[in-house]
Amino acid sequence: MKKIIVAIDGYSSCGKSTIAKQLAQYAGYRYIDTGAMYRAVALYALVESRKSKVESLNSEHIVSMLSDIHVDFAIQLDGTQHVTLNGEDVEKQIRTLEVGNMASQVAVIPEVRRFLVAQQQKMGEQGGIVMDGRDIGTVVFPNAELKLFLTASPEVRAERRFKELQEKGEHPVMADVLADVNDRDYRDTHRAESPLRQADDAIVVDNSNMTREEQMQHIYRIFDAKVKCER
Ligand code: DC
Repeated sequence: MKKIIVAIDGYSSCGKSTIAKQLAQYAGYRYIDTGAMYRAVALYALVESRKSKVESLNSEHIVSMLSDIHVDFAIQLDGTQHVTLNGEDVEKQIRTLEVGNMASQVAVIPEVRRFLVAQQQKMGEQGGIVMDGRDIGTVVFPNAELKLFLTASPEVRAERRFKELQEKGEHPVMADVLADVNDRDYRDTHRAESPLRQADDAIVVDNSNMTREEQMQHIYRIFDAKVKCER
């Protein structure tokens, strides 16, 4: 059976990575979290700026670092993948708020995007891949056989984030969380370089009113139908 490319894009806090991971497992495909790659570049920039005691980094500094950065993924015994930065497993370090904020800054630099997009395209060359991000169906793999665009109402996504933060022991304020979701949506969809946009041929999955199980069954059906057509 032909191994296709599945491109998953969508708004923040839509459960993209959980869905992509589960679909990859179902299909027996490789999963690539492109957000982790932007986060790894951000981590490198933060560590280097601390070493050289630079207060704030500009795009030129960051672009000059790219030739020293090698981002990859290492498969773990349980089948999950950890992002590596110059050979070091940085999966944990990249998940902080500070690195997340830096990642959204490095993600607007065209050279950084070109650098990572080229690697993502290489990773998907053979097919058999589920890749999630913001520009996968539009820029990285405009010819992907299956494109999913995930969405849910801002209120539902804010509620999910609110619960996640509470589970981490934080004391979020609902109005702030909702404002943050709306701000991120605005930034993601309005940046000059590769803004988040639904590809014309993407299938929209609005999971506002679906349980996780319902949504996975729905996505598996879409995938199975697609793979049958591509045979
Ligand atoms: O999905 P995430 O939060 O791990 O992504 C980190 C940052 O990288 C976020 O600001 C969005 C950006 N990003 C991007 O611009 N393009 C991608 N393909 C993936 C992530």
